[in-house]
Amino acid sequence: MIEKVLSEKQIRERILELGSEISKDFSGKNMIIVSVLKGAFVFTSDLIRSISIPFKLDFVQLFSYGASKTSSGKVEMKKDTGIDIAGKNVLIVEDIIDVGYTLDFLLTHLREKNPASVDVCVLLDKVERRKIEVPVRYRGFEVPDKFLVGYGLDFDEDFRGLPYIGEIKEKA
Ligand code: IMP
Ligand code: MG
Repeated sequence: MIEKVLSEKQIRERILELGSEISKDFSGKNMIIVSVLKGAFVFTSDLIRSISIPFKLDFVQLFSYGASKTSSGKVEMKKDTGIDIAGKNVLIVEDIIDVGYTLDFLLTHLREKNPASVDVCVLLDKVERRKIEVPVRYRGFEVPDKFLVGYGLDFDEDFRGLPYIGEIKEKA
């Protein structure tokens, strides 16, 4: 059973706010959005349609082992950027930040390509779980330490298509 944590309406309204903030901040700048597959693809597709300035879009795919509910700490890159980001203003778009290993890895990796700047936009932030400090510039929602699915987020590749975000409740 899935218990709703964030509704479609809440998500939609917050994304409009994020989009207009990003549009203002990056106006006149050369922006490249780097979305993290697979989880962030739904968030990215809505967010980019709420951004009113020009940008280029690219994807990376990261992978932190296994079908467990916690990050293994070992992050690998399955797909790197295809667009040259040197001298550009990069905005990473990610679904959720938990302990921080994934984004820390990606920030380090992208900075080696000499972009003009790198900022992070996450839909969900499990603030209390953080083990590594990650500079998050845009945050959709702070969420409690629960395992969340839907709106792109999966558990063992299931539930990505739910239009809302929910928590899996185990049956007693
Ligand atoms: P971190 O490296 O611990 O910050 O974990 C971030 C990654 O773990 C995200 O990109 C997600 O793929 C996954 N993750 C963390 N928490 C959740 C969750 O509640 N639901 C689904 N995936 C999660
Ligand atoms: Mg992810």
